Amino acid sequence: MRNNSVDRSLRERAQAVIPNGMYGHQSVALLPDGYPQFFSRAKGAYLWDADGSQYIDYLCGYGPNLFGYGHEAITKAFLDQLQEGDAMTGPGPAMVAAAEAMTRQISHADWVMFCKNGTDATTMALMIARSHTRKSTVIRARGAYHGAAPWCTPVANGTTASDHANQIFCDYNDPDSLAAAVKQAGNDLAAIFAAPIKHDTFVDQAPLDPEYARRARAQADEHGALLIVDDVRGGFRLARDCSWSLVGVEPDLSAWGKAIANGHPLSALVGSEPFRAAAGSIYATGSYWFAAAPMAAAVATLSLIRDSDYLERTIALGDRLRKGLDAAAAQYGFRLRQTGPSQMPLILFDEDPQLARTYLWNSALIQRGVYFHPWHNMFICAAMTELDIDNTLDRAGEAFALTQKAGKIEPAEQLRPLLKA
Ligand SMILES: Cc1ncc(COP(=O)(O)O)c(C=O)c1O
Repeated sequence: MRNNSVDRSLRERAQAVIPNGMYGHQSVALLPDGYPQFFSRAKGAYLWDADGSQYIDYLCGYGPNLFGYGHEAITKAFLDQLQEGDAMTGPGPAMVAAAEAMTRQISHADWVMFCKNGTDATTMALMIARSHTRKSTVIRARGAYHGAAPWCTPVANGTTASDHANQIFCDYNDPDSLAAAVKQAGNDLAAIFAAPIKHDTFVDQAPLDPEYARRARAQADEHGALLIVDDVRGGFRLARDCSWSLVGVEPDLSAWGKAIANGHPLSALVGSEPFRAAAGSIYATGSYWFAAAPMAAAVATLSLIRDSDYLERTIALGDRLRKGLDAAAAQYGFRLRQTGPSQMPLILFDEDPQLARTYLWNSALIQRGVYFHPWHNMFICAAMTELDIDNTLDRAGEAFALTQKAGKIEPAEQLRPLLKA
């Protein structure tokens, strides 16, 4: 076991002053043994935990880290602006430059509203759709995450039935299920929400079925509803444009966050011309939404998105990892289910419904300085190198050997409440 005395002591202190010691998606309560809760440093593709152990990080901050933590040009843009002024009484020129860069980059975007979190953007999308159509019902896919506001949080505690009202669920990639939901909405359909791909937790990922995308577009048009793509997680990781551009379907609105400023706090809702008036009709704001430094970071990030080969690079690195892991698993008699695009991989063991093997393997990897996630899609960042991937594969081989030696494994204690549910 790596030294974790600082982490342990921080957890004890946190337990006293933070509910459950931690909350939300960055709590490690559901992760395999050995995952540190606290980190002291991040640079490039690496993380250092509070005890000083180094990891190659395949979570990338759950998505924001696209070009490497502390990327020089982006950090410089951020710090230069920070020194001039950040959260001021009004926005800086960088907000206009960032909005121009977003509309240049995203084909369907004619306007932009910046905010802080992905949830701000998806919630604004919901409000704009309702304001434009004067209708209430939204359709979204079962199991798809759109944020943690009362209307979309996956945990109902603290919400009311009315928070979840006017929503109908369908199955992602199933045009018939979508058609049934549209029928159920009758003449009250305001919007169809969609993820860029199926990137739900715990289950195999799936690419977007182009037919599903086309049908969603057609159904929205037929009913005067808005089509909204939630690109908060997949944005600029799948394409240099909105993710659905890959299948030739343009949404009316798309929600962005995470990678748009390479981890500096910024998210955005973008939309096409017909919805500009509705966007201007809602009241949406926040104390930090207009802060100038993250906008400057976004301008620098967007220029790298436009001009660098980051996308091809992350795909090639992801392919190398996928191929190497399949070969290493086979050596030890395991079959993996590697799903999602290779630059946003989810790795499960075949015939491991309770994730027992997956947990043991991930636990062995974290001990060896590889930060994988057992049930959330991961991310490749452009700061990773072929050597990082090859080192990961070496360590994965050791972890397979250990998993093989363990034989039959009981499901992890921390997952039991979820497996029961
Ligand atoms: C697809 C998707 N939509 C929305 C959100 C919410 O973003 P945030 O956590 O920044 O509010 C997330 C966050 O993980 C996400 O993955």
